[in-house]
Amino acid sequence: MPQLIAGNWKMHKLRAEAIALARDLRAGAGAGANLLVCPPFTALAAVADILAGSRIAVGGQDCHPATQGAHTGDISAPMLRDAGASHVILGHSERRQNHGETSEFVREKVVAAIAAGLTPIVCVGETADQRQGGAETETVGWQLSGSLPEGFAGIVAYEPVWAIGSGKTPTEDEVAAMHGFIRAELARQFGDAGRAVPILYGGSVKPANAKALLGLPEIGGALIGGASLIAADFLAIAGAALGG
Ligand code: PGA
Repeated sequence: MPQLIAGNWKMHKLRAEAIALARDLRAGAGAGANLLVCPPFTALAAVADILAGSRIAVGGQDCHPATQGAHTGDISAPMLRDAGASHVILGHSERRQNHGETSEFVREKVVAAIAAGLTPIVCVGETADQRQGGAETETVGWQLSGSLPEGFAGIVAYEPVWAIGSGKTPTEDEVAAMHGFIRAELARQFGDAGRAVPILYGGSVKPANAKALLGLPEIGGALIGGASLIAADFLAIAGAALGG
């Protein structure tokens, strides 16, 4: 399977800026990796229009577990589908930390996303303190068993919290060890289906380190924040990815 290079634009880009970036990506995307961009909600439909019929898929950055209802400020999975999304990032550490999202709540969102026909990208990862205390695999293990529902068939992203936006990355051995652990956990929880789940790495992926990270075992692609905001950087990372 080709690797997936996914851009998480977070709370960046007004509509005109998002459209310009989407156009640049569409013009520059070569064959090889699968590409995905996750714009803010306000730009999602416009970006989906620009990228319709291209090799670049569009995703949301979060959704609510309910289909509709009295949930001020929230967006449902069917709304994301309706706006042109095929994927949704769930349980990002910025949601877990800034909005107090528990793994149980993330699991409800994953169920809703799958029911709406979206592919969930479920984020897990330890804090610096957890890694210093030797609790990184235990933390990620709990997040996986708590966040993934029975019959899970989506994507997992390993994003060490301390690597996000910091310019720091784990060593290649540390990434390989964690991806091996996640693969074993997925196989334990879901059998053969768990062996097929792509596992992305995220946290300070840049053009300069992409080739090394993407070449490690059990890496299904990358989830990219900062470097996904610049077309040339995102396309350079995509160029370092393994095709099908
Ligand atoms: P970063 O963010 O690439 O800016 O470190 C990654 C993420 O949060 O998905």
